[in-house]
Amino acid sequence: MTGILILNGPNLNLLGTRQPEVYGTTTLAMVEEACRAHGEAIGLSVSCLQTNHEGGMVDAIHAARGVQAGLIINAGAYTHTSIALMDAVASVELPAVEVHLSNIHAREPFRHVSYLARVALGQICGFGPQGYIMALDALKGHLEGA
Ligand code: DQA
Repeated sequence: MTGILILNGPNLNLLGTRQPEVYGTTTLAMVEEACRAHGEAIGLSVSCLQTNHEGGMVDAIHAARGVQAGLIINAGAYTHTSIALMDAVASVELPAVEVHLSNIHAREPFRHVSYLARVALGQICGFGPQGYIMALDALKGHLEGA
């Protein structure tokens, strides 16, 4: 099966209890389980990783090279600050979809900027946990050349 890494960054381990008015009440474990199940249904083997550390995210992206066929990344606040993450995605040459639970473009101006967007296939934001499922479908289509 084709492997996909879903990488979540800082503070996303607190999903479910973190600012539920913004991020909802679904926990990260629930999101990851739904992604594994959906992946299985469409022929993708989903691995999930969450870290609060920028360097850990860079390491995970490097480790995906030659192992995974694509990446789904919610880099949390590092989206808006991290040139290192952008460079890591560009360096491993894996298709990556950027996901955000909230609509970052409807929020504070500093959230409108995404370094990752420069190297991602595309960005999905504002659809809550469903965004990860949409990203899996998008990667599936991309990998099939659709
Ligand atoms: C987020 C949006 C970011 O601006 C924020 O820092 C997060 C979560 C989202 O999923 O909506 O941590 O990536």
